[in-house]
Amino acid sequence: MTRRTTMNPPFFLFLLHLCLLCFGSCSAVSEQDCSQQEGGVVGHGYNLRSVGIDRPGKSLTARLQLVRETSTYGPDVQNLVLSASYETKDRLRVRITDSDRQRWEIPQHVISRRSETAARGLLSSCSTQHVFSNQDSDLDFILHRESPFRFSVVRRSTGDVLFASQPRVVFKDQYLEISSSLPATRSSLYGLGEHTKSTFRLVPNDTFTLWNADIASANPDVNLYGSHPFCMDVRSSSPNAAARSAGITHGVLLMNSNGMDVLYGGDHITYKVIGGVLDFYFFAGPSPLAVMDQYTELIGRPAPMPYWSFGFHQSKYGYKNVAELEYVVARYARANIPLEAMWNDIDYMDAFKDFTLDPINFPERKMRRFVDRLHMKGQKYVGIVDPGINVNCTYGTYLRGLEKDIYVKRGGANYLASVWPGQVHFPDFLNPAAREFWAREIAMFRQKLPVDGLWVDMNEASNFDTSSRPLNSLDEPPYKINNAGVRRPINNNTVPASAMHYGNVAEYDVHNLYGLLESRATHDALIQATGKRPFVLTRSTFVGSGKYVAHWTGDNAARWEDLRYSIPSILNSGLFGIPMVGADICGFIGDTTEELCRRWIQVGAFYPFARDHSAINFIHQELYLWESVARSARKALGLRYRLLPYFYTLMYEAHAKGAPIARPLFFSFPEDTATYDVRTQFLLGAGVMVSPVLKPNTVTVNAYFPRGRWFDMFDYSQSVTSANGRYVRLNAPEDTINVHVRGGNILAMQGEGLTTRMARQTPFELLVVLDERGRAAGEVFLDDGEQVEMAGEKGEWSLVRFSSEIEGRNLRLRSEVVNGDYAQRRNLVIGKVVILGMEVKASSQISSVYVNAKEASCNAFVGDGVVEIRGLSQRMSEEFGMKLDINY
Ligand SMILES: *[C@@H]1O[C@H](CO)[C@@H](O)[C@H](O)[C@H]1NC(C)=O
Ligand SMILES: *[C@@H]1O[C@H](CO)[C@@H](O)[C@H](O)[C@H]1NC(C)=O
Ligand SMILES: *[C@@H]1O[C@H](CO)[C@@H](O)[C@H](O)[C@H]1NC(C)=O
Repeated sequence: MTRRTTMNPPFFLFLLHLCLLCFGSCSAVSEQDCSQQEGGVVGHGYNLRSVGIDRPGKSLTARLQLVRETSTYGPDVQNLVLSASYETKDRLRVRITDSDRQRWEIPQHVISRRSETAARGLLSSCSTQHVFSNQDSDLDFILHRESPFRFSVVRRSTGDVLFASQPRVVFKDQYLEISSSLPATRSSLYGLGEHTKSTFRLVPNDTFTLWNADIASANPDVNLYGSHPFCMDVRSSSPNAAARSAGITHGVLLMNSNGMDVLYGGDHITYKVIGGVLDFYFFAGPSPLAVMDQYTELIGRPAPMPYWSFGFHQSKYGYKNVAELEYVVARYARANIPLEAMWNDIDYMDAFKDFTLDPINFPERKMRRFVDRLHMKGQKYVGIVDPGINVNCTYGTYLRGLEKDIYVKRGGANYLASVWPGQVHFPDFLNPAAREFWAREIAMFRQKLPVDGLWVDMNEASNFDTSSRPLNSLDEPPYKINNAGVRRPINNNTVPASAMHYGNVAEYDVHNLYGLLESRATHDALIQATGKRPFVLTRSTFVGSGKYVAHWTGDNAARWEDLRYSIPSILNSGLFGIPMVGADICGFIGDTTEELCRRWIQVGAFYPFARDHSAINFIHQELYLWESVARSARKALGLRYRLLPYFYTLMYEAHAKGAPIARPLFFSFPEDTATYDVRTQFLLGAGVMVSPVLKPNTVTVNAYFPRGRWFDMFDYSQSVTSANGRYVRLNAPEDTINVHVRGGNILAMQGEGLTTRMARQTPFELLVVLDERGRAAGEVFLDDGEQVEMAGEKGEWSLVRFSSEIEGRNLRLRSEVVNGDYAQRRNLVIGKVVILGMEVKASSQISSVYVNAKEASCNAFVGDGVVEIRGLSQRMSEEFGMKLDINY
């Protein structure tokens, strides 16, 4: 924020606004009793004792005192302290905790969230309320002078109340409760995962339980592998008629790692949390993309993924031996279906021990040869690792862990759990020595088998042992969260809550962080071992996991509903800052069918992470097994591979600004309320829309087209024009998925290939898609796809921006190069430009093409609304201007 010494008009208006807030009506929010929910406490709340701000104006502090004791869930905390601060102009933090005792909070060394640029706030008080505000921020914090106290967060520009706490705050050692009212008819909520849901927009009267658990994602509406107490709220209108009406968006994070139930009631939201503190962050938006930028600025930017990871992956639990792996790879090649990476589930291990190879079926010598051959062909290999280390005195990994004393403990001894290998101990990734241990084991394993990435599974952590007896109140908290949808004990199927971690931290508090900590340790270990950009796929996640890993949606089923669930699940992962995500293509549990697998690869080819994976004891589902599936795979993956530079540029945008790769339609069209409920279509980036078939025996799709001109990506001449958004019935014969690109975009593409390496050797093509005004823009990010940093200061990379417009009867296309060195050294060239959306007839002719004012020797073709210029060899590294003269 800039400091102002004189009172200029905006600052004056800001002060005026503060005064008006005090006199104006603040009762936009109707008070209601939301505390009577099942399993709740009727709290009596807290009174405001004092309010003040510190000298630099960085934070407001309020002292709160309990009104009256309540009888359930243990004694109330008597005195609370609330602090509010502008960490940036777009991020307001409100934290409430015990003023007398320190409580569990996620440490900075787990999720680093120091704010460098704290913005100042100004406090103004009047008889009804205290207002804390910052002239550059659109968020005002209001502390109401009522008994009991309550607070609100208000968007200043629209007067919209974003959060309005109800007076009955409850704060006990093992139970916290706070509610906010919501404008039921104007608020659309997204997020609060991880859950399998049939809708993307949250449906009222639902409870979202957050407690990481090994529960198959084929089960809708229960807590799954990850916890993300974050939601995005899109307001469909504002109370202030003068303001822009629909689509103003904000985000709310409760930074808390303890188990919780979040009840969404349409006109209110209630958080019931079994520990930690109430630490809310409000992100001002006002667009969905701005919220993602602000959210990932706090929790960590999504990790760059290696280029190869955007290729197609094949996995199965139940591959029998190396010969079978070789067979699968050969069949993919023979069927001409792209295959980037082969994967192994736990089958390759010796008795399911991490970092070992089965000496009979997957012996080291053969595995090494297999992986070396993959590498020669430009393919990759990824293996699974589970956190549980088998207790076995002949097992070196176990012994080294024992010696370093890095296992999770309970009652003073290493905690004994039971997973695939039998009895195990869990490395305690909070312990720096455990992270070193892990890195060393990974480095040693890579000496044996040079895996290209690691897949960390079972890291909730999953435990087959459900017989542990409670030791203390951590094992049996007074409030039972709705674990597994049946208020199952929190200890069931995982490490008991009374187990202890490094630094005297209880599992109770860090349970939800286990997958995050293992992800970080694995990510760091791979960088150390390879010096390259790591690829780690994890099942369990928490806030901030995206900084290290990719995610798949876990154990889905080979059913049509799971194909449909995959879209909300993938979009949610994007909201959680984990944009590299996919669902198991063709379904994991159960026997798939030809038709389901065919429709699934058509969608899955456009997941950010595209992997076919299935469970043991079910039929094989490699894409070559049915001719119709193979045909669809070649077609859909063919387009995916041509779009690889686009996917990779979206990865760059994700890493730079938190923008999801796969996005809900409302991200590009927040003002169009008809997009809010769309759950069967998604966008890649801003302007490529995927509209799949998600039902059996269906050959049409009723797809929503937001305003604009949309062109079919497979058949450029087919287009849909939508003035204000409308549904269009599209043909979708069995081999067809509808993918459209919107006018206004320029996509960088390349040719097809069976591997990303092959595709990257082809010249670039620019697809210029003009909007109604004859304009388009886009960019491409270029690097080697494996340097650790993406767009790092020392790294080698280039960014090229393109823009195009119609001038008179001619078309102009320009490029602007940021950092051309990489593109120059690699001699990257554009061989072809395709232009969609020009008013050309088949009889029109291109009279000349000028590049940098010189007539170019190339071939120009005019088809039905499509102009194609071939035979170019324009260097990416050189800025160019291109002009097309057309005879209509
Ligand atoms: C949610 O519950 C409330 C109160 O029981 C009811 O009025 C409302 O219609 C319900 N909403 C939905 C979407 O079911
Ligand atoms: C320890 O591991 C070895 C090698 O896999 C195995 O043969 C042995 O049965 C295991 N011992 C126990 C007690 O599990
Ligand atoms: C614990 O979970 C298992 C399934 O994983 C279930 O069979 C058992 O009933 C659960 N125990 C309790 C006490 O809920």
